[in-house]
This record gives sequence, C-alpha cells and structure tokens, in this order.
Amino acid sequence: MYKGLIQKEKNLSVIGLGYVGLPLALALAKHFHVIGFDINSDRIELMKKQIDPSCELEAADFEGRDIEFTHDPEDLRRAHFHIVAVPTPIDDHKTPNLSPLLSASRTVGKILKQGDYVIFESTVYPGCTEEDCIPILEEESGLKFGEDFKVGYSPERINPGDKEHTVEKILKVVSGSDKPALEEIANVYGQAIEAGVFKASSIKVAEAAKVIENTQRDLNISFMNELSIIFDKMDLDTKEVLEAAGTKWNFLKFSPGLVGGHCIGVDPYYLLHKSKEIGYNPQVIVSGRRINDTMPSFIAKRLVQMLTQRNKNPNASKVLVMGITFKENVADIRNSKVIDVVKELQQYSINVHITDPLASPNEISNKYNLTLNDAPSSDYDAVIVAVNHAQYTKLTMDYFKSIMRENPILLDIKGIYPRPEANGLLYWRL
Ligand SMILES: NC(=O)c1ccc[n+]([C@@H]2O[C@H](COP(=O)([O-])OP(=O)(O)OC[C@H]3O[C@@H](n4cnc5c(N)ncnc54)[C@H](O)[C@@H]3O)[C@@H](O)[C@H]2O)c1
Repeated sequence: MYKGLIQKEKNLSVIGLGYVGLPLALALAKHFHVIGFDINSDRIELMKKQIDPSCELEAADFEGRDIEFTHDPEDLRRAHFHIVAVPTPIDDHKTPNLSPLLSASRTVGKILKQGDYVIFESTVYPGCTEEDCIPILEEESGLKFGEDFKVGYSPERINPGDKEHTVEKILKVVSGSDKPALEEIANVYGQAIEAGVFKASSIKVAEAAKVIENTQRDLNISFMNELSIIFDKMDLDTKEVLEAAGTKWNFLKFSPGLVGGHCIGVDPYYLLHKSKEIGYNPQVIVSGRRINDTMPSFIAKRLVQMLTQRNKNPNASKVLVMGITFKENVADIRNSKVIDVVKELQQYSINVHITDPLASPNEISNKYNLTLNDAPSSDYDAVIVAVNHAQYTKLTMDYFKSIMRENPILLDIKGIYPRPEANGLLYWRL
C-alpha cells in the first residue's frame, strides 16, 4: 500500500475536513495524492479557495500540496487508503452520538474495494472501530474484513490554536488490524509525521490511549477546580498555592478553569459509556466531570456575591464578559462553558455584554441567541475576563477601571494578570 501511495499509483482520501482532517490532509498531500472529502459543500468551496473554514490555517499552508477537494462521494472510489476524521460528539443525555462516524463508515463502505485500507482518527471508546464501524464497512461493501480490506486506528492529538505543536510535530499513535497492516499504516503516517509514529499493539489499545489522554486532563483540571472552591472559602489565592506547591519536582502543573470544547469535556463520556456497558460504574471520572460542569454556576454565584458586597443590585448591573470561545486563541465556540456563565448571569437578570476578538457574531447569534458586541462600552459594574486570548494579556488594571463605574470588580478567570495592589478594584480569580 505504502509503495503504491508514494509512487502515486494509488490515492489517499481524508473524510471529514475539520480541525483534525484538514491539517492532516494537507500534511499528507506533501507526499501523496490526497482526495479531501467533506459533506459540507460550503466548506469545500472555501477550501478550494485555500481558505480554512476553521480559521486555523493560512493560504500558504495549501500551497504546493497535491490535494483535490470534493463533496462528491463518488470521487472516493479513486482512493485506496481512507482516513476518517469526522466529529464524535455527545447527545443531550451525554452519551456518544456516533451518527457522523457511522454515516462516514457507510460512505466509505459504498466505495470500498478489495485491498483498500480504512483508518479511523475520530476519538471513540475502546472497541468502537471493531464493534460499530467494521460491520458497516462489511455490510455496505459486501467485502470481508481482514481478507478483502484492512483497518487501522490512529488517534489525533492536534491542539487547535497552538502554532507550535502542529500535526507533523506531534508523535502519532498508529494501530492496525494485523501486523502487515500496522507496518503499512506506520509507513504512510511516518512519511508525513516528522515526530514519528508509535505502534500500538492493537486497535483497542490505541482507542483507549486517546480517550484516557483527555480524561486524565479533565480529571487533573477538576482537582484544581475543587481546590479553587475550597481555597476561595478560606480566602486563599489558589494560584499562589499552586505556585508554591509547583516547586516540588513531582507536583503536576495544572490550573483551574472552564473545561469546554469538543474534546476534554466530551471524550470522558465515551469511556463512561463503555464502562457502564460492561458493568462498571466509574466514580472518579464522573465526579471530575461533575465538578468541571459546575464551575460556570460557581463563577456566576461568586460574581453576584461580589456585586452585593459592593452595594450593587445584580438585576440593575451591567457586566462585560471578555472572551466567549471555548479556549484561548481559537474561534471555536462549540460547547464553550463561558456561554453557561453568561446564561447563569442572565438568570440573575444581570445585563451581560460580550466581546471576543475571534468568535463569529453570526455563529454566536445562531447557536446561542446571544449578541456579540463589537467593542466594550463603559459604565460596567464588573468585567469578567473569561478566556486568555493573546489580545487580552496586555490589558492593564487602569484600562479595566476606565470601562467600569465606581466600586469596580474584575474576575480574571484564568489568572492572566498579577494580583493588583489595593487600588479600589475588587479582583478575583479561580
Ligand atoms: N479538534 C480537536 O482539537 C481534536 C483533537 C483530537 C481529536 N479530535 C477528534 O477528531 C474528530 C474530528 O474532530 P474535529 O474537531 O476535526 O471536528 P470538526 O467538527 O472540526 O470537523 C469535522 C468535519 O467533518 C465533516 N463531516 C461530518 N460528518 C461527515 C460525514 N458523514 N462525512 C464526511 N464529512 C463529515 C464536517 O462537515 C466537518 O467539516 C473527533 O472525533 C474529535 O473528537 C479533535
């Protein structure tokens, strides 16, 4: 397979060109002929014009790449090595929503040929590739797994907004349905990934490795969030405590914060689902999730307490929330927990203004029925800096005071700013 691909006698396809699929497709297109497929024709039209709809890549990143973009599944027939990178969200009941993954498996199954490879990249629970996806590939193609086609799983570790750890620079875990498949898959990815590949012993091991990477992060942050609740009650500054503890060689450096987005706050539910299915009810994972999910209401409640401490009536207060994306330096607002903070504040009848240098006003309006202001106005009773976008790091206490009424309150959720000396401003961080 690798030989055919590198000699361009065979083609590679990437199905689902989002935050994961597009950078990967472009990296592979430095070496192979790539057919980039997405069901969203608007996104495909933008990519044809060298525009990344997810706003992560520049036009220069498309230059000189051997890639064609299409939303016609028939084009996938010309490919032999298919990589699936579609979303794996959760539903309203926080259980895995496999519809995009199963639908993409159906699309690939319809065009699958003898000798083809299918590699899944989407984050799933251990067993999903073999139990959920392969049967669809067999059913749609009429081919036999193992004999007629091979499968692999290679989880993605890309970190949107991070210009340093790009896809080629992150060691990639690969796995295959048998030894020869693993070698072929490792060779293909190894060609494009400068950091190299790690060969996992099985598809299930690779699936489990990915899901625990993010679950571990979720749990570590939940511990920091719990500490920040405890220390807040004791009037202790959590950041100062963590700085002191962090001087020990084996103290792990995490900080409290809102856990949103479509990875860290979502992936643990995939592991939870599988665990429950096989008869074990996880305790630690569930409590970590619960703590992280309660942080928006904790923050809103603390602000209301501070407003009353400063003799401000919450339902006559005007509050500015700076940053609405799920994390710093990205435009992505999906599953942003700042939205939950805003909705909580609105429940207290607080008049909330929102600004963000990266988020799309249309998306905010369509998805959450909220208005994004172009710029801050003035006369705020409090300001919440919710996201540590690069644009916010240089702002000063004088600036915050200039946009607030008397008795100003600043909530620096991510602890971006040095704790101000007594200057009339009530400062609080997690
Ligand atoms: N974004 C991240 O930081 C990140 C990191 C590591 C792993 N992951 C995982 O990678 C997977 C993809 O995530 P993403 O962030 O790239 O998602 P995304 O929402 O950015 O992009 C997914 C793309 O797939 C397309 N799509 C949806 N259904 C399709 C189908 N049936 N056929 C073809 N195209 C389809 C969508 O139109 C979209 O362009 C998920 O499983 C996610 O958990 C994401």
